[in-house]
Amino acid sequence: MPSTVIVGTQWGDEGKGKVTDLITKDYDYVVRFQGGNNAGHTVIVGERKLALHLMPSGIMDENAVPVIGNGVVIDPGILVEEMQMLEDEGISCKNLKISCDAHVIMPYHKDFDGADEKRLGENKIGTTNRGIGPCYQDKAARKGIRIQDLLDEKIFRLKLETALSQKNPVLEKIYGLAPYTVDRICEEYLPYARILKPYMTETAQLLGEALRNNKNILFEGAQGTLLDIDHGTYPYVTSSSCCAGGAATGTGVGPTAINKVIGIQKAYVTRVGGGPFPTEQRYVENGGAGEEAETGEALCKAGHEFGVTTGRKRRCGWFDAVIARYAAEVNGLTDIALTKLDVLSAFDTIKVCIAYECQGKTYDYFPMQQSVLFHAKPVYVELPGWKGLDLSECRSFEELPQNAQDYVTYLEALSGVPVTIIGVGPDRDQTIVRGWKSK
Ligand code: GDP
Ligand code: IMO
Ligand code: MG
Repeated sequence: MPSTVIVGTQWGDEGKGKVTDLITKDYDYVVRFQGGNNAGHTVIVGERKLALHLMPSGIMDENAVPVIGNGVVIDPGILVEEMQMLEDEGISCKNLKISCDAHVIMPYHKDFDGADEKRLGENKIGTTNRGIGPCYQDKAARKGIRIQDLLDEKIFRLKLETALSQKNPVLEKIYGLAPYTVDRICEEYLPYARILKPYMTETAQLLGEALRNNKNILFEGAQGTLLDIDHGTYPYVTSSSCCAGGAATGTGVGPTAINKVIGIQKAYVTRVGGGPFPTEQRYVENGGAGEEAETGEALCKAGHEFGVTTGRKRRCGWFDAVIARYAAEVNGLTDIALTKLDVLSAFDTIKVCIAYECQGKTYDYFPMQQSVLFHAKPVYVELPGWKGLDLSECRSFEELPQNAQDYVTYLEALSGVPVTIIGVGPDRDQTIVRGWKSK
């Protein structure tokens, strides 16, 4: 019963969608376990490009059952829309299984997300504004509404009434926003419930059964290690457990069932939204200048670093080995898929951060106090590049230019985890498989 967790090792957008799509063929189930439609996962096969938010990225593989686990928060309108988009593309969603325990993003969650960001002003998190935080907040406060509650109108109305008796006064009196009525929300959400009902199931039981029958399960993480609610750069994080451990709680599969954890690692680093980012090469508009701003722009341009969900320009920076080691540890990585190596063909030399310096102290491990991250000065090693050489046709490690090979083995040594997949372009085929085995 080989099962594998895919996790982001940085601040998201590492290329999880591409790798999930690539390896799903070896699995019988492909499962999302946390997050919601804050995720934007890109899958490119030939002319076809999909941007997925809630559906597991293995959806193109007809033989793998797509599952949305209990740890995911679902905006039902967005899910219905995404299913329609896939059906229009000729991709069937008929096998989709949705956990009846997944929590539902309500309209007021989206209002609170936006209003709270406004309240925070300069200190805002820079959320995707999809209602993720407020929905997980209600879940933790035991006030949430689960997808199973939508199946019985009476129960749904009762739960809504209770929720609105608390939400409406806050919306109106604290944020100056319009209140909701039970009828208005029912009118919008009950038709979604009718569409989604056939897909709802007890997914923990389903996956348990699958494991007993020796089926293979692939867990697809969203966001990344440093956006994890516990292990990330709190409070500049999302509200779920993005690390490998989240795959167990977010699906009901015991941790002993997980054999492999593959960390998706960009050959440089990006981040969307606020929060510390030691190796950031700031754009002029973010206070950067000269070489720093040029590097930031060059990474953004070569890597097409714009958000899939919000279209925001991603902050870009050099590879950070302190983070890489931390991600290896907190996720128990067995493998690394190094993505976007081709993007670094834009540079003469490439920098790698091996430690931080802060107030006379050197840190080669993730600092205990976040204030260090804010003020950390990266200690860089500069490596020779392979400027202008096109990597996109390379299909074996040996075909890569020597400096690119050296870059990969250097990063491997820094994190202590083997790089068993290398991305040399966005297409599924633009990949070097270097020893990756699902079993
Ligand atoms: P995710 O959120 O981790 O699934 O990543 P995103 O889809 O948000 O962002 C990754 C972007 O990089 C997408 O546009 C992918 O098509 C692209 N991508 C993934 N792997 C590679 C790669 O190896 N090389 C290049 N050039 N692009 C890649
Ligand atoms: P994928 O799965 C990159 C970031 C937001 C913000 C913070 C909190 O595509 O890698 P939220 O809306 O979750 O409350 O926002 O987390 N964020 C992401 N950044 N990729 C993502 O997903 C992200 N999902 C959330 O920008 O900083
Ligand atoms: Mg993304």
